[in-house]
Amino acid sequence: MKYYCILCLLLVASCTTPKEDTWQTLDFGAFQLKAPPDWKIMEFEGVDSYGGGLTNNVDSLTFDYGEYDVDFETGANRRVAEDTVNGVPATIMIPVGDTPGIVSMHLRPRHDKNQFTIWGHHVQQQELILKIYKTIVFKHSDTTVNPPLTADRFIISTYITGKTLFQMNCAGCHAPLKELTGPPLATVFKSRDQQWVCQFLRNRNSILKDSLQVAYEKEYQVQCTRFPDLSCAEIRRIMDYAH
Ligand code: HEC
Repeated sequence: MKYYCILCLLLVASCTTPKEDTWQTLDFGAFQLKAPPDWKIMEFEGVDSYGGGLTNNVDSLTFDYGEYDVDFETGANRRVAEDTVNGVPATIMIPVGDTPGIVSMHLRPRHDKNQFTIWGHHVQQQELILKIYKTIVFKHSDTTVNPPLTADRFIISTYITGKTLFQMNCAGCHAPLKELTGPPLATVFKSRDQQWVCQFLRNRNSILKDSLQVAYEKEYQVQCTRFPDLSCAEIRRIMDYAH
């Protein structure tokens, strides 16, 4: 009887997490991913973005591929990992603890002004969903750069979206496209990379002043606020939002 039950358990386990060599490739046009055979594509068109999803009737995933960040409820504690998925920088979020919640991933493909977000609500098969996320490839993806996503890569943090961070810290002086007290951020972000902006905002004295910086200071008279408490990941999310 005991052995029989272990066999049951094994059968159940192997049904819920099928072997990856049986996975199918699902093609969404802009990207592809791999999923177990029972997953099916659901498609719909967003208003100003491309969206769709996939489901196996236990969990459903939705994606959005467009110019803007997708906003989830902010301020709640999440476990967050900064990762690389087939060469593309990624932020992956899972709930704290074992209760099912939002499992999401945000990708910033290079050669692309669009943002890619994929998520599931009330996710039952978290481990499987994370494995599916790691198979996503775009046209320019580099499949040789896909480090394993282990549990220790996740840190508990209060996740705040790029949009909210922008509104809380920058919107008083900057708009993405208009000139206010400071220059339009979309223009600024074209000539500065993420590492530079992170250093500039956290401690501008640590970088050598170049001619563009001198020109900005002269033109705007006031100086940009310092943000030693923002992390580089948060600054990157602001850039993703206001690019
Ligand atoms: C108090 C007003 C103010 C706030 C708040 C502010 N900025 Fe600025 N920012 C400026 C001004 C003015 C400049 C141009 C002068 C300078 O370089 O300091 C500027 C310049 C910049 C530059 C361009 C630097 C360069 O040389 O290319 C970046 C990048 C920037 N801000 C990002 C941000 C971000 C992101 C936030 C929010 C986290 C923010 N700023 C908040 C006023 C502000």
